[in-house]
Amino acid sequence: MGRYRIEGGYPLKGTLTIRGSKNGILPVLAAVMLTEGETILHQCPFIADVFLTMEVLEQLGCRVKWQGRTVTIDSQNCISTAIDSKSVQKMRSSILFMGVLLGRCREAKIGYPGGCEIGMRPIDLHLKAFRKMGVKIKEEKGLLCCDGSRIVGKKINLDFPSVGATENCMLLAAKAKGHTTIYNAACEPEIVELQTFLNKCGAKVKGAGTDCIHIEGVKKLHGTEYSIAPDRIEAGTFLCGAAITKGEIQLKNVCPNAMRQVLLRLGEAGCVIKEGKEEIYLKAPEKILPVSKIHTGPYPGFPTDMQPQFMTVLTLAGGTSIISETVFEARFKHIGELCRMGADIAVEGQTAIIKGVKKLHGAYVSGKDLRGGAALILAGLAAEGETVVENACYVQRGYEQIEKSLFSLGAKIFLE
Ligand code: UD1
Repeated sequence: MGRYRIEGGYPLKGTLTIRGSKNGILPVLAAVMLTEGETILHQCPFIADVFLTMEVLEQLGCRVKWQGRTVTIDSQNCISTAIDSKSVQKMRSSILFMGVLLGRCREAKIGYPGGCEIGMRPIDLHLKAFRKMGVKIKEEKGLLCCDGSRIVGKKINLDFPSVGATENCMLLAAKAKGHTTIYNAACEPEIVELQTFLNKCGAKVKGAGTDCIHIEGVKKLHGTEYSIAPDRIEAGTFLCGAAITKGEIQLKNVCPNAMRQVLLRLGEAGCVIKEGKEEIYLKAPEKILPVSKIHTGPYPGFPTDMQPQFMTVLTLAGGTSIISETVFEARFKHIGELCRMGADIAVEGQTAIIKGVKKLHGAYVSGKDLRGGAALILAGLAAEGETVVENACYVQRGYEQIEKSLFSLGAKIFLE
């Protein structure tokens, strides 16, 4: 399975270029299946979720060719409207293929999606919106069998601004007949990225980045050439790594505006931060300061995907901080492991009370999900002695060779 071995106590120092975004590329790859032709994507990260999505595209009839970080996908042929349950269970974002297969072929057969175990992660919002747009959905032997022969644009009101449900509705509506409006839409930068990509392929989408998105369905979408935006969560993770190790780093290929909450909170924790248009410099304080209460929330709130890493930084603060997790109900699995390393964190329901300690010590710990695994690596970088983080596979879902990036910044970390 793989594990990281870390010798703690080395500050992160130097310059790092951030890769293309995981959560940006996954919906774009699904959207490629809506097009007929050739799409060229630049800045693709080499991460497990991307490789899995490529496998799904190939199963559906696409031809995929890699050349460095550029991938060319020929989506002229669609040979299947079914996705095997194995692929779907490995990855939450595979549910987006429901929208694209229905958009393109008017039918889809797909299992329930998997992904990290960070809560219930139902898909009721996706299904409710699809039904409203005329999709008939039956469950047969654990598969969702969808008939989209009567898809029409509608007014969709999401009960929660779900990222995945917003993306799925955009994908389906891009090729549905008529006009769709999504109210209470998610506003994440990845939604804007999907709109930009779809429009480059000939779709008519506007409003992404606000809570109301308008889509005028079109008959056909064509291929295009597109470069994936940088990963704001990868960037935030390295900034937290520098903060917790008393380091000083410069990140290139970042979008500071998409990271506003994390940058503000790192500033509150005492870090010196300077921003360029596509660069961020961070110098850690001698002692991390506690921060006022953080609530995770939909964008532009504090990202749930940064909660475990930021909590890890706060374990070494000179006082007590509080974090409430409001997006996923089971996203505190790293806490028990952090406590094994000497952290002092109490949990009351969805709230964690983090009392800063003088130091963390190395321990044998186990990642339980992607961001929680990354958080344990950060703890290991700051801890005294050796830390082993088991279950590298979770981290590899979303970080490309994190050990190499950290090593290049002076950390002593090895994948074994
Ligand atoms: C996406 C991101 C993930 C991030 C999350 C929130 C990708 C591939 N993943 O996940 O990294 O943590 O956004 O920023 O982009 N919900 C329902 N019913 C639904 C759909 C969602 O109740 O039909 C709930 C979820 O259980 C969760 C909340 O809504 O509690 C947010 O989920 P959602 O925004 O949909 O996250 P994902 O798209 O799965």
